[in-house]
Amino acid sequence: MPDRENTFMPPGEALGAEIMARAEAAAVHNEASEGITRRFATPGHRAVSDLVLGWMREAGMTAWVDDAGNTVGRYEGTSPGLPALYIGSHQDTVRSGGKYDGMLGVITPISCVKALHENGERLPFAIEVFAFGDEEGVRYGTSFVGSAAVAGNFDADCLMRLDDDGISMNQAMRDFGLDPAKIPAIARKAEDVLAYVELHIEQGPVLEAEGLPVGIVTSIVGGTRLSVAISGVAGHAGTVPMVRRHDALTAASEAVLAIERRCSVQDGLVGTVGRLAVVPDAINVIPGVVRFTIDIRAPENAVRDAAVADVRAEIKALCARRGVNLDLDQANQSDASVCTPWIMDQIEGAVAGEGIAPRRLYSGAGHDAQAFDGLTDIGMLFVRCKDGISHNPAEAITAADAGTAARVMLRFIRGLEAP
Ligand code: HGY
Ligand code: MN
Ligand code: MN
Repeated sequence: MPDRENTFMPPGEALGAEIMARAEAAAVHNEASEGITRRFATPGHRAVSDLVLGWMREAGMTAWVDDAGNTVGRYEGTSPGLPALYIGSHQDTVRSGGKYDGMLGVITPISCVKALHENGERLPFAIEVFAFGDEEGVRYGTSFVGSAAVAGNFDADCLMRLDDDGISMNQAMRDFGLDPAKIPAIARKAEDVLAYVELHIEQGPVLEAEGLPVGIVTSIVGGTRLSVAISGVAGHAGTVPMVRRHDALTAASEAVLAIERRCSVQDGLVGTVGRLAVVPDAINVIPGVVRFTIDIRAPENAVRDAAVADVRAEIKALCARRGVNLDLDQANQSDASVCTPWIMDQIEGAVAGEGIAPRRLYSGAGHDAQAFDGLTDIGMLFVRCKDGISHNPAEAITAADAGTAARVMLRFIRGLEAP
């Protein structure tokens, strides 16, 4: 193990400049006019994946795209085939999102490996960096598809899901040059991996409020995503008396406010309706069908599950009272994850090594790290973001913080001692 004090540590300014420039280079591959939208298996995904392949190879890695659409790079250790430290995040975005959610956690480890490579360093373990293709699930309402495939818990049912244009995930993967039938072969075994670590923007206000550039993640909330369709009776806006209506939108509106009310009762519990579509969506027609999504999360699974059960019951009752039909399905669910103590301790050591006061905090956002929770030990390093804003074009970080976070990650990597 090289003596950390005697190995070259690139200046934060240089690391930060490289990372910010690469985030800009990735951001141009975008489907939106406002913010960044880059969905799974689209030309934007292909373009960013090609950029990442080039950066990985320049950093001395072998690099490829796996059949789940992940871009993967491997940097061998002191001898070929050693178990690897996995470091990853996602290359897809939400709709009209920011430049750093996901991509910062892809670009930063590549810069760290590049520093090792340029310094001629090999460690007593390999490093694999992952740019997961579908974490946000914007195109198919899924989540963690790429990381689940690597971690060995890919749900093949999602291949039948259709996007807004009626294209199945299976077809989209094939059009992208992937072979979904080979996804099970991607799965890693526990003996392949030492640990999974992810660097990500905090997407919250804590670090900025306390004047800290980075923090150590203790746990990641669990989330349940539901898809709802309420079917009433479309009708003439001018001729149907109010008392005779079976209006799908007023029923959905009551449901949305019920979700807000139920999820406002305790800290950490949150509920969101992010998508809502009205059919036939005409100014003079009483809505016949409304489709919407529900996202409920909490740091504890039991708190989340109780809220989901109450919301289900209340929506069912209001639909019966209003004489409209209800279809409610669970799209997916991720349980809360607790980060592994030895990894938190070693990340904390690297943070302190950079002269920064260690701060531990939980994540209200979901992350690919959760997909690895069953396979290996997991940890996360958070990076301060401006006003805690994310999933918004205004998402921003500073080059200084990007450089600091990269130095912390490089220290962590060099000092890694898995138990
Ligand atoms: O929804 C989330 O928490 C993450 O951005 N996928
Ligand atoms: Mn996100
Ligand atoms: Mn993310």
